Amino acid sequence: MKVRCAAVCILLISTFYRNDAAVTKCTAVDFIGKTQPYLYNSTIDGTIGYAFLAADSVYQFPCCGVVKQWQAFIKQHTGTVLFEVWRSTSGSAYKLAGSNEFVALTTNMLIALNVASGAQITVYPGDYIGWYTDNNEMVAYTAGTGPEADNIKYIDLRSQPTAITPGTNLDWSSAASFQNRNYGIRATIDANSPPFFTNLNFFMLAQATWPVGNLVYTVSASDPNPSDTTITQLTITMNTDSYFSFDTTTKEVKVTASLTPLSGNYLLRFKVVDLCEYTASGTLTLSIYNEPPTIHNLGATVEVLENQVTELLLYTLSVTDPSDPFTCGISSTSPSPAPFSVRLKPGLTDYGVYVNNNPGLSVAANANYNVFVACTDGKGTTVGKLVVHVAASNSPVITNLPNSVTLPTSKLNTDLVFNVTATDVDSPTLTYSMTCNPIGCPFKILSAGRIQLTSDLLYQTVGSYDVTVTVSDGYSSRSSSLSVVISGLNTAPVITNLPIVSSLSVQENTNLGTSVYQVTATDNDRDTLYYTMTSVPGTGMDYFQINSATGLITTSTTNAINYETIPATSFTFYVRVSDSTWTTDKNLLIRVTNQNEALYLSQQIYRVYTNEGYAGQQMNPGLSVRDTDVGDSVSYSMNCGSNSGYMTMASSTGLLTYAINYDLDKPGLPTAITCIVTATDSGGLTATATLSVDIAEINDNTPTFLSSSYTFTVFNNIVVGTTIGNVSAVDGDISTNGQFTYSLDQTTLANNYFQISQAGFITLKNSLSGVVGDLDFAAKATDTGGLQGFVSVRVTVLEPTTTTAATTTVGYKNMFDDKRNIVWISILAVVAISVVAVTLYVCLGYLRYWPVGFDPFKECAKGFECKKPDCLKPKPRPRFQPEKSKPLPSRREPSLPPPTPPLMVTPGKQEILNYIFKFLK
Ligand SMILES: *[C@@H]1O[C@H](CO)[C@@H](O)[C@H](O)[C@H]1NC(C)=O
Ligand SMILES: *[C@@H]1O[C@H](CO)[C@@H](O)[C@H](O)[C@H]1NC(C)=O
Ligand SMILES: *[C@@H]1O[C@H](CO)[C@@H](O)[C@H](O)[C@H]1NC(C)=O
Repeated sequence: MKVRCAAVCILLISTFYRNDAAVTKCTAVDFIGKTQPYLYNSTIDGTIGYAFLAADSVYQFPCCGVVKQWQAFIKQHTGTVLFEVWRSTSGSAYKLAGSNEFVALTTNMLIALNVASGAQITVYPGDYIGWYTDNNEMVAYTAGTGPEADNIKYIDLRSQPTAITPGTNLDWSSAASFQNRNYGIRATIDANSPPFFTNLNFFMLAQATWPVGNLVYTVSASDPNPSDTTITQLTITMNTDSYFSFDTTTKEVKVTASLTPLSGNYLLRFKVVDLCEYTASGTLTLSIYNEPPTIHNLGATVEVLENQVTELLLYTLSVTDPSDPFTCGISSTSPSPAPFSVRLKPGLTDYGVYVNNNPGLSVAANANYNVFVACTDGKGTTVGKLVVHVAASNSPVITNLPNSVTLPTSKLNTDLVFNVTATDVDSPTLTYSMTCNPIGCPFKILSAGRIQLTSDLLYQTVGSYDVTVTVSDGYSSRSSSLSVVISGLNTAPVITNLPIVSSLSVQENTNLGTSVYQVTATDNDRDTLYYTMTSVPGTGMDYFQINSATGLITTSTTNAINYETIPATSFTFYVRVSDSTWTTDKNLLIRVTNQNEALYLSQQIYRVYTNEGYAGQQMNPGLSVRDTDVGDSVSYSMNCGSNSGYMTMASSTGLLTYAINYDLDKPGLPTAITCIVTATDSGGLTATATLSVDIAEINDNTPTFLSSSYTFTVFNNIVVGTTIGNVSAVDGDISTNGQFTYSLDQTTLANNYFQISQAGFITLKNSLSGVVGDLDFAAKATDTGGLQGFVSVRVTVLEPTTTTAATTTVGYKNMFDDKRNIVWISILAVVAISVVAVTLYVCLGYLRYWPVGFDPFKECAKGFECKKPDCLKPKPRPRFQPEKSKPLPSRREPSLPPPTPPLMVTPGKQEILNYIFKFLK
């Protein structure tokens, strides 16, 4: 039971290693036969030279592997025993799969044979354990009673005709068998080793040129388990391939198709399988060598003429390739670009090097080209160099020049002049060109050398041309001369006096039809000549005309020339003279010039009403002129005869200005001046008119008092109507402007004490009774124009009887209020009387000479020169010093001068004098 269990267990374990329908592989975990063989040691057969085959499942191998150990109980005979493995082949035939020999030197013991790896027998599922002794049986057994191992075949090999060795088939059909016997034998199994290639993962060269059938390689494999190669065979296979085959028998790799499509490394993959279906892989790498095309004839030099114009084969290439079709072309050129190409020759398999159409070769530009030709079979490329040498071409030859030809003027446009013929040995295409002297000849040369007219010869003026014809093949050229003579020319008329150096000038207002210029022309052919002209601008023809028969240019017979209105003042006339064939044009510039035309003052008489005034005062008489000369300048002047010098006239504007202070109040200045005004234009033409200036006197003076102030002294007891004094004013204006009236301004006074007459006399109007002191007021003189002059007037009013009691008089009472002053005054009075007495003594010497009625006081009081002695002359008080050189107040803003009488006699002194005068009288 244990044995069977072990077998089943091995089967179960083996299922873990089972591949798809593959053989079960053994592992090193168990054994076949009896687990403990020494327990079956009871009996030994008496057979001699018998082979046993234990065809019972106990002794049957369940997996594929090797036997690494045998164990058996050797009963009682020493000797040699072969432990064997039998494999069923067909029916009752078995093949001996292998045997391991053991020589027993002792008996009745369990022996173990460890089999060296190089001798281990490969077992296969279904194989049976067997053994053989060539003498007495040596493996013991114990007979069983129940279901024990059966069918233990045994056969006497001594009767066999041939020796039984591993690999030998033996028919066991005649063999007898034992039943219910447990033989003490077992085989310990182990895994089989995988096979291996002995010469793979190999790299080798292969020629692409190898033929079909060519042997490439023989694959070899081996296996560590000897019976995998001796008893059974290793199976070697190769992956399917289009170019190579593998013979599994001979293990030979051979070529089956042309290898030329291949290049580079080509891999063949192999697999080897042993009995237990262990495998190994290997590759054979073929490096396929594909030979590139061979160019046999490069490194050569060819020559081409520089004037080659059509495509031309320069060189035929010799190229071969042992295996592949190939193509050739130009890989590069030096210099680049270059006008060459490589292609197959028509209808052939050879390649040719060609020069292209119109290659434009030139020795001067480049004499040598390196053309690198590359041929390739798609796997490899070969390059060779062809040197193309450019050779100079031959020059063309002109065969019918130099030459000359004479043409009549009847020849027409496109008529033939001359046929130039030329040849060139190596250039089919020639180009023709020409130059002619003088330039501008009436013919041209065509591409074929035909020189033909480009216009009718009738109008030719030049009688002969020297023509130089040049023929070129594009590289070199040849020139030769042709003389062309034109006979019977009609020549153009010639204008002999145009153009002129400068322009013609025609003044405006020139008479209609006046001759301006005679155009003269000559004509060699004595043709009748016609004259015409045009003008720029075209309006010139309105003012000038030409006689078609005579060529005389005149002013228009209908349109007068007015410089100021003509559309242009400069005309260019294109004068044309024609014979029946030719015309000749010349131009003539006519300028219309301006005539200075008269100017007119706009009025015959100009009047100016003005006033007297200061120097520099302006007056505008409104002068203006009319002048047909647009923009002409004008200057004005005037002549006032005996009244010259009072006024000036501005030449540009005609404005009048007083040259002096024109004051009619002074005698001698006229109130009316008559002048002749002259206007002069830039050309010196003049116009005159009369200018009358009336000057009016105006009220320009203010009445002025003759004295800057007046002072009068009166006693306050004078009666109303008494004349107190007179004032006197003058006015600078003549006529009524100088008339004025007097009046008084007494607003400063308490009462209108005074009045004034138109003669300037001031009289008492209201009583002065009780009045003492100075009364200051103003006298006014007002002229007819309202101008006013002022003067201050002081009337000093005295008390007639006392010198000390002027208590009511303002200005003196303070001094006498103080009683102490009376003492001073008294003393001063005594001193003063003493002084007066002395003075009187001195003065009395003079009094004898005064005229009768003369009032020295009055005279002196007026401030006029007088003959009074110094003592009587008024002495100004410093306190009332008059202001010196004070400007006169303006006429419009008169101011009242302060009442500061320039002359003053102290009241006391005067009073004393009055007494003295009275006394004297
Ligand atoms: C022979 O077999 C018996 C059991 O059957 C065993 O007990 C004995 O040990 C064996 N003899 C030897 C020498 O192994
Ligand atoms: C000029 O040459 C051309 C051909 O080249 C020919 O056809 C023609 O007749 C020639 N003319 C003359 C006038 O020789
Ligand atoms: C007025 O007084 C002056 C002197 O101041 C004198 O010349 C003049 O004649 C007097 N006029 C008249 C009308 O008496």
